[in-house]
Amino acid sequence: MRLTKDAINLLQQMPNKETITELLKKSNKPFLTKDDVMEAIKFLSIQKIEKVQEEKIESYYAENISHKIEIIEESDVSGKSRSRGTVEDFISYFNDRFSKIKNIFLKRGISDVITTKDIKNYDRKDVGIICFVYDIRQSSKGNTIIEFEDEYGTGLGIIVKENLDKLPSVIQDDIILIKGRVINDMIIIKEIEFPDISLYENNLNIEEDFYIAYLSDIHVGSKKFLEKNFNYFIEWLTKSEEGKKVAYMVIAGDIVDGIGIYPKQEDELIIKDIDKQYETFNELAKKIPEWIKIIAIPGNHDAVRRAEPQPSLNKKHCSSSIIYASNPVYVKIHSVLHLVYHGTSMDSIIAKIPKLNYDNPALCMQELLKRRHLSPFYGDNLVVPEKKDYLVIETVPHVFHTGHLHKNAYKKYRNCLLINSGTFQDRTDYQIQLGHVPTPGIVPIFNPKRNVIKEVNTFAKVS
Ligand SMILES: [Fe+2]
Ligand SMILES: [Fe+2]
Repeated sequence: MRLTKDAINLLQQMPNKETITELLKKSNKPFLTKDDVMEAIKFLSIQKIEKVQEEKIESYYAENISHKIEIIEESDVSGKSRSRGTVEDFISYFNDRFSKIKNIFLKRGISDVITTKDIKNYDRKDVGIICFVYDIRQSSKGNTIIEFEDEYGTGLGIIVKENLDKLPSVIQDDIILIKGRVINDMIIIKEIEFPDISLYENNLNIEEDFYIAYLSDIHVGSKKFLEKNFNYFIEWLTKSEEGKKVAYMVIAGDIVDGIGIYPKQEDELIIKDIDKQYETFNELAKKIPEWIKIIAIPGNHDAVRRAEPQPSLNKKHCSSSIIYASNPVYVKIHSVLHLVYHGTSMDSIIAKIPKLNYDNPALCMQELLKRRHLSPFYGDNLVVPEKKDYLVIETVPHVFHTGHLHKNAYKKYRNCLLINSGTFQDRTDYQIQLGHVPTPGIVPIFNPKRNVIKEVNTFAKVS
């Protein structure tokens, strides 16, 4: 274990440094900062409060609230998939994506927006065009040429090399607003805008004092599934003061580890039968207090089609105490609108956008919101060309919840709270090979009334 200088200084000041060191060892991180030490101190102090309160708590607050949970029906693909994957299906899919995102721009009241068929009529004039980026290349003079298309045709834009650093970088398939001057049927690009989300606060007005717990990537069936930690979390929900205020649980996919998801996966499995994996999870879930309403969506390890949008789990794998929905889905919990998405596309986002990496899931989520699409780049992440594009972020949620990266992250981006919930799967050999450092056993809980997020770290109690 290696610590930064300020981490060592802080640790040395603490009277219980041995206990803190023990906890830090369990984090499995090769390199620890002052923030990690702070985290451990904070966590240990929460444990103390819990012990005192555990003895005197009788009434369960979450039990007394009247639950309000609603799946937004039109966002759920379950039972509605009609795509046959024909060329026509793809055309209507991309047309739907384009018109929805174009509308997001137009709703802002942008003037002077033309289409590709009008470019020739606007010579030497300033215009704006909402378009798909079809191709990006460098000219021999070092300028950047963007080939774009809209519903009428194609066009060319140039970013002169002196302006390149001043403009946001774009990627093939991005839908953007280009502003610039038409010169000889080409647009000299001066500005580029993404559809993005509003800067303004989206105030929540919640009366009830409750928490929502966010989980994902439980991976039941994997040898690395942390069953003890999962059970401790359920115990925490049942016995601790704060745990008893948890009224909802949202599970963003990868409930089980699945079968045949990657080569030689069977070597990593303790349960090699998919039905048994779900049975085991459902048995564990039975122990979750009944006043917690649970909603679960599938992820890329679950037993539904791999391409997105994924329908909800097959009935035979469901538990009667859980509400199932598609991936992605919009869910309203009281007045808090959630967009729940497993996050499989984040692998392709990380591969395409240079500033992103596996250590910072919130930045990946931010890029999705900026593009108002959950899988903006066609190719690596499989999508089904449904008649309508379920992956467009048409409505900005209060909370955007993802998983898949096995790393906890929270961020307020503009008017949206981003939560990437962690995992209950310990670091796998594959993750070691890739150098990914997950954060297993940590569950975020959010109180919308008080607007606070807390982490429940299950590692302090589990040896
Ligand atoms: Fe996962
Ligand atoms: Fe996943």
